[in-house]
Amino acid sequence: MVMTGAGVSAESGIATFRGDDDSIWSRFSPHELATESAFVQHPERVWSWYQWRRRQIAQATPNAAHLALARLEQCVPSMTLVTQNVDGLHQAAGTQNLIELHGNIMRSKCHMTHKPIDPSDWCPDGQYPEGKPPASPHHPKGLARPDVVWFGEALDSITLDRAVASSLDCEVFFSIGTSAVVEPAASLATMARQQGACIVEINPQHTPLSMLADYLFHNPAGQILPLLVEHLEHPH
Ligand code: OAD
Repeated sequence: MVMTGAGVSAESGIATFRGDDDSIWSRFSPHELATESAFVQHPERVWSWYQWRRRQIAQATPNAAHLALARLEQCVPSMTLVTQNVDGLHQAAGTQNLIELHGNIMRSKCHMTHKPIDPSDWCPDGQYPEGKPPASPHHPKGLARPDVVWFGEALDSITLDRAVASSLDCEVFFSIGTSAVVEPAASLATMARQQGACIVEINPQHTPLSMLADYLFHNPAGQILPLLVEHLEHPH
């Protein structure tokens, strides 16, 4: 089982949420941009901010860490990758067995019904419009919002159940590029540990999980993961 967070995409040029002065929640307020009530009060502001992030993410490509994890899945077909990232870079790298715990920023859904909205439903060129969020086809008062989990919202229960089942079932749990502070994602490693899994953390910084980890690599994921996978592919 592999759990990833924003640090895995840092080497693709996507800012992390915490950790340094450039990180997203050092520069922007999550209460103003990443809650249901912020969207209801200021839909244009929230939509514009997500459009800006979508543009950045659309230009990013998978880095050595994403590519190494896709190769790891080839070596270990039973592997499950659970990501907190919403950028789609694990799919782009070729990972198949993927659980997106916090959604995907490139998708949208109706803010009233939470039904998915395809961009081609409202726009002939299939592009997300700038400025105001478009009306939802699913509800007369609905607007399109990004299909990501906001603060105060529950995770999709089926998605979370799959992630929990993988954590309880695994022999080795990798925690890579996550500050391990956001629940319920942060507890998955603890669940795995309680079932006897070996915990491996890859993060240049210490996290609350570090003291539980059996192996700690204080390196960028894009440096260490290709070496680990190379060793699995060619052990001698
Ligand atoms: P954070 O931004 O909280 O943490 C990123 C972690 O990546 C930090 O611990 C960094 O030390 C580490 N890091 C930075 N560069 C790295 C590299 N090259 N290789 C490995 N690690 C590196 O990101 P998450 O833990 O993913 O939620 O944040 C969890 C959730 O909080 C996000 O999914 C998001 C956010 O609010 C939602 O949007 C719902």
